Amino acid sequence: MDFNLSEEHIMIRDAARDFAQNELLPGVIERDENQKFPTEQVKKMGELGFLGMMVDPKYGGSGLDAVSYVLAMEEISKIDASASVVMSVNNSLVCWGLETFGSEEQKQKYLVPLAKGEIIGAFCLSEPEAGSDATSQKTTAFEKDDHYLLNGTKNWITNGNNASVYLVIAQTDIDKGHKGINAFIVEKGTPGFEIGPKENKLGIRGSDTHSLMFTDVKVPKENRIGEDGFGFKFAMKTLAGGRIGIASQALGIASGAYELALKYSKERKAFGKEISKHQAIAFKLADMATQIEAARHLCMKAAWDKDQGKNYDLSGAMAKLYAAEMAMDVTVEAVQIHGGYGFVKEYHVERLMRDAKITQIYEGTSEIQKIVISRSVLRD
Ligand code: CAA
Ligand code: FAD
Repeated sequence: MDFNLSEEHIMIRDAARDFAQNELLPGVIERDENQKFPTEQVKKMGELGFLGMMVDPKYGGSGLDAVSYVLAMEEISKIDASASVVMSVNNSLVCWGLETFGSEEQKQKYLVPLAKGEIIGAFCLSEPEAGSDATSQKTTAFEKDDHYLLNGTKNWITNGNNASVYLVIAQTDIDKGHKGINAFIVEKGTPGFEIGPKENKLGIRGSDTHSLMFTDVKVPKENRIGEDGFGFKFAMKTLAGGRIGIASQALGIASGAYELALKYSKERKAFGKEISKHQAIAFKLADMATQIEAARHLCMKAAWDKDQGKNYDLSGAMAKLYAAEMAMDVTVEAVQIHGGYGFVKEYHVERLMRDAKITQIYEGTSEIQKIVISRSVLRD
């Protein structure tokens, strides 16, 4: 067993850290306040190879492993979780799904520009009545001549307005239940495809979350991903890796808040000494550091499983569950350590606390992770 990072891993972590400090930190408070999508920053992330990190270089990616991805996600999320969710969706859900299950034509046409970050993608599973209960798809795509006719509504879609390519899950045969679901590549601008208004959110306010409406949208048959009926498995397999990305996002949010709280506790004085010298504060820091380290190990283990070609459904779900719950706890404590200053925007920790909340909800709520984990441990 070796807990050391390789030189390449350290280089990637440091590159992500520099990028976050130099490019994401300036303006992060204003982007949050004004719900402004980080357009320029996302473009630079693409140029640096952060949007197709694990994609084979022959398809325009950086050809890195999942451990590198966790390291980069943590660093970027420490500063700006709105930017890191763009990165997570593009890498884990869109690029990975297309590279693993797409046809060669789909990869050449869509994966290459997505991996290079020339365009970004969206993953569209959730619906008004199908969130956790993801098999209850109401969106339909029925075969007609040389295409499918797509109808329905998707909810809460990250990159909803800024994406160019959308992976849309839909029911193609109602009688077959989840075995009658398919995944399709849908291009922005296809007639009948409309984008709803941007959601006004508690956290990750810079990311753009939208409903998508499809009315008789013609999707060419060659845009179906995989065999007929593969769509639900496609979504589940893709989300298994996505959960490693969101676990790393939660880890980054927590470690960002912890670093700020640690620094502040050594500067702020009360009752004649630094607040870090009051045991109540020192013990909070001890708990936070321990929880973060535990989450980091779970994230790394899940990434290692993926890199080794092992199954990572369980380790990814454990990492996501623990890191999300931990991020909420740690960010609340970071605000507490800052006292009143933690309650105002300039100190960043209130934003990190708001951003932490979403990690318990998307890519499978904490309750859903417990379903995945308990089914696995009971089965084994
Ligand atoms: N890999 C492969 N196949 C899988 C699988 C996996 N990890 N998990 C389930 N399946 C298969 C099952 O084997 C089953 O197929 P068979 O009948 O052929 O065996 C089929 O999928 C249905 O599985 P279940 O019977 O377990 O289905 P269920 O209705 O009990 O639900 C669930 C399972 C895990 C709760 C699932 O519905 C789920 O993951 N829900 C959460 C949805 C979610 O995570 N949404 C995230 C949206 S994307 C997002 O949020 C992005 C973002 O924020 C940025
Ligand atoms: P529900 O499923 O209605 O759940 C409500 C509550 O009930 C939750 O606490 C849940 O854990 C609990 N619950 C439900 N079923 C059970 C059960 N069986 N046992 C115990 N508890 C249960 N989706 C996408 O497809 N693509 C995206 O890009 C995307 N981005 C998102 C971005 C944001 C900002 C948000 C808020 C959501 C996003 N989502 C996206 C949707 C997200 O994945 C869902 O919100 C999530 O899966 C929960 O679904 P729901 O909101 O319908 O809640």
